[in-house]
Amino acid sequence: MRWGILGAARIARAAVVPAIRAAGGEVVALGSRDLERAEKMAGELAIPQAHPTYEAVLAGPVDCIYLPLPNSLHLTWAERALAAGKHVLCEKPLALSAEEALAMGRAARLHGRVLAEALMYRYHPRWQEALRLLRSGVIGEPRHVGGSFAFHLAPGNDYRWRADLGGGALYDVGSYLVSASRQVFGAEPLRALALARSRHGVDVRCDLLLDFGERGSAAVGCSFERGESQWLRVEGEEGALLIPLPFTAWTGQQVPLYLERSPGGAREGIETPAADPYREMADHFMRKVRSLEQPLTSAQEAAANLAVLDACRSSMESGSAESVIMPPR
Ligand SMILES: NC(=O)c1ccc[n+]([C@@H]2O[C@H](COP(=O)([O-])OP(=O)(O)OC[C@H]3O[C@@H](n4cnc5c(N)ncnc54)[C@H](OP(=O)(O)O)[C@@H]3O)[C@@H](O)[C@H]2O)c1
Repeated sequence: MRWGILGAARIARAAVVPAIRAAGGEVVALGSRDLERAEKMAGELAIPQAHPTYEAVLAGPVDCIYLPLPNSLHLTWAERALAAGKHVLCEKPLALSAEEALAMGRAARLHGRVLAEALMYRYHPRWQEALRLLRSGVIGEPRHVGGSFAFHLAPGNDYRWRADLGGGALYDVGSYLVSASRQVFGAEPLRALALARSRHGVDVRCDLLLDFGERGSAAVGCSFERGESQWLRVEGEEGALLIPLPFTAWTGQQVPLYLERSPGGAREGIETPAADPYREMADHFMRKVRSLEQPLTSAQEAAANLAVLDACRSSMESGSAESVIMPPR
């Protein structure tokens, strides 16, 4: 399967181009707004064609597009790629609102192509094992999710500092915490309260309280102002599961899960295999392209996650808890 890449993005270089290759795909073209940049990265990654525009990649003989542009450009370029007959693996968050994600899903259906959000952690066997353990009842019914996804990002040229490009901590890392909380409960939150601090026009810190009704609640926080911090703790009726590095544990990083049983709280480490979630994702995506089936991280699933982010963004403005309005399934 031949792939084209839109944008000389860091994540393409660091993780996704190698993962596509490891999963058996062929990366044949890279487009950039700047030909020199395209040629440099294409040379370094041994990608045969470098183009001075994204359009040129879409016009070429590629089957799949990997789209790692700033978040505000996902909608436009995914729609263009789908209209050009390409399957699209688009970076997270898929879009800036549930409505945009649904429009992208409609475009994929219209053109008979597969569209997936590159929410790689969902493909990691370690995350799947954590969900399996929770569903097996090891901690009883989950009642609370606590968690954090934070890192220090100095103000600068990064698109994450630009509101017009879909920057801010909520879209960048809060979206993972929302996704994980929804999966733990296997349900959608009814209300969301988001308390944020803004700098340079984007939220640099955002603390979220998600109300899952009688199932439980989540209190999770994301930030660009703290040192690296990434963990989830799921508390159930009979114990807790601690998940260090839930989103980025990668190849070569064998990070255990920790189970605590009540009463007493004795802690037991559970080893899970290291894996490359990007490779698992690329493999899944190409299988879905072959069978023309919905991927795990479909536009509909992304729209549900974005519906929660929509409520969080409304809450940041109102200062009150806001209802989550789920898109129709
Ligand atoms: N799944 C993951 O693990 C993961 C990790 C990091 C990031 N991401 C996602 O991947 C996407 C890119 O993140 P990144 O960290 O790789 O960003 P990045 O290095 O800044 O890459 C974004 C690329 O977009 C292109 N671009 C087009 N218009 C732009 C504009 N106005 N300003 C800046 N860049 C523009 C640039 O490529 P050209 O100039 O070459 O055209 C740039 O290289 C985001 O959606 C992010 O959420 C995902």
